[in-house]
Amino acid sequence: MIIAVPRERGPREKRVALIPETAGKLIKAGHVVWVEEGAGTSAGFADQQYRDAGAQVVPGSDPDWMKEADIGVTVQTIDASTEASPFAYLRPGAIVIGMLGPLSADIQGFESLRERRLTAFSMDAIPRISRAQSMDVLSSMSTVAGYRAALIGAERLPRFFPLLMTAAGTITPARVLILGAGVAGLQAIATTHRLGAVVQAFDTRPVVREQVESLGASFLTLEVQSQQTQDGYAQALAEDAHQLEVDLLSKPVAEADVVITTALIPGRPAPVLVTEDMVMSMRYGAVIVDLAAEAGGNCELSRPGETVVTANGVTIEAPLNIASQLAPHASQLYSRNVYNFLTHLFSMGLGVPDKGLDFEDEIVARTMIAHDGQITHDALAKRMTGVRSGE
Ligand code: NAI
Repeated sequence: MIIAVPRERGPREKRVALIPETAGKLIKAGHVVWVEEGAGTSAGFADQQYRDAGAQVVPGSDPDWMKEADIGVTVQTIDASTEASPFAYLRPGAIVIGMLGPLSADIQGFESLRERRLTAFSMDAIPRISRAQSMDVLSSMSTVAGYRAALIGAERLPRFFPLLMTAAGTITPARVLILGAGVAGLQAIATTHRLGAVVQAFDTRPVVREQVESLGASFLTLEVQSQQTQDGYAQALAEDAHQLEVDLLSKPVAEADVVITTALIPGRPAPVLVTEDMVMSMRYGAVIVDLAAEAGGNCELSRPGETVVTANGVTIEAPLNIASQLAPHASQLYSRNVYNFLTHLFSMGLGVPDKGLDFEDEIVARTMIAHDGQITHDALAKRMTGVRSGE
């Protein structure tokens, strides 16, 4: 099949959906890979590396190249409704694969997928099951985000992270508090712990206590718990439980040098866990890194995409698309996830005459969001109906 890799067009996007290594593996498996000129440049992959891997590099000035492609892969650029988007040139029935955000992105892009009768798979809807682990882009990107957040915290803090015993006396280690101990939070724990900080963490899912402790952090025991969905996600807290959590977090937040927040509930605005009053109680020079910025933020004072320094000298970082800050490795992980997903589709007969996709397969069923002129993702379909009827 012909697999096309357009250059990403989103703001702050430096990643590329397929790196030369995985393009080469697809070519060895008998496929053809077309890459738009410069698609890998900002992730550190030159056009020549794609050519060396056997791919064809296509000029970006000619969008017609997408017309013959069977599959377009992207990190997160898809709005097929505008002629500026290469995806607008895919033929009906062609496949789009990317992190399309069925629970959060603007619905306009999805209307165009439906109207153009494209089959779209959203990599961020991969089920959290063992056989799909190698395709799990959320875990890959959260790993990058957690690591990077730890470094941002260390870099912004005007103090040492580790304990230092010097001839001039002892420096006490920094105190780091991690809120939300999913994939990103656990990676942030591991990284800040390795840097020598004393790390505490809290999550409303008590099952993560053991993982937190195995990484060398202590788990805050607060009388607040949430139910866990079948996929392992936290369910939103009721208002009184949420308020209790905020109250109980006041003291640990005030005592922390760095707070890294990662708390998310899929498809909802991020819960506010650090209020303005709590920020005002923190000491001069303290840092908050809010990884939930894309979903509005866990800190009341976060401004997504910006750095805020408060009157009492607290720095609040709310980075957007933080995974792009480590574009080479983020692309490498994402690309391998996409390769494993494609291999799964090919193994069931995608592209083979008289065969095709198994729509009953859990991975296909959960990731497919549009097919043959229909939106096939329930939550997205409801959201689109709601927006159309003005709800
Ligand atoms: P996420 O990014 O949706 O949320 C981050 C964390 O925030 C979660 O741990 C959640 O419990 C926590 N959280 C939500 N509300 C909170 C609140 N009010 N206060 C404190 N913490 C709060 O989660 P992520 O990282 O995507 O992981 C979700 C689940 O998926 C986890 O159980 C993880 O172990 C599981 N998982 C399973 C995999 C597999 O089996 N293939 C692969 C990766 C993750």
